Amino acid sequence: MTLNVGLLEQSFQRIKPRADEFAVSFYENLFAAYPEMKPLFAKTDMAKQRKKLLSSLVLVVENLRNPQALAGVLKSLGARHIGYGAIPKHYPAVGEALLMALQ
Ligand code: HEM
Repeated sequence: MTLNVGLLEQSFQRIKPRADEFAVSFYENLFAAYPEMKPLFAKTDMAKQRKKLLSSLVLVVENLRNPQALAGVLKSLGARHIGYGAIPKHYPAVGEALLMALQ
């Protein structure tokens, strides 16, 4: 599958004015479909977390055409996620919840 970068950029531009609503929807979708992921965020300030998620998504989308700028940042973000309890089987869930939020 090749990534349709133009479409992703366009879609992201359209959700930007409603960014917090988008992030609220993302975590609602995630926890509704996968309640077992909720405990990972038990001590998390979700308002702050939504901002962090959004800024990392902005960084990713703004650099889709410049992937070498992303490699280091995403590797360290991924490494920190080991400590947060993220495991490979969580990734499809996050992908689905992101697509639903965009929709
Ligand atoms: C595989 C699925 C994922 C799980 C289970 C997960 C879970 C978590 C958890 C539990 C935290 C810690 C919250 C706290 O500090 O209390 C966190 C932090 C964070 N997550 Fe995720 N996450 C996932 C994927 C992602 C993705 C795809 C992104 C963005 C591209 C992302 C961006 C962040 C950011 C920016 C933080 C803030 C802390 C930091 O920068 O290290 N996460 N995540």
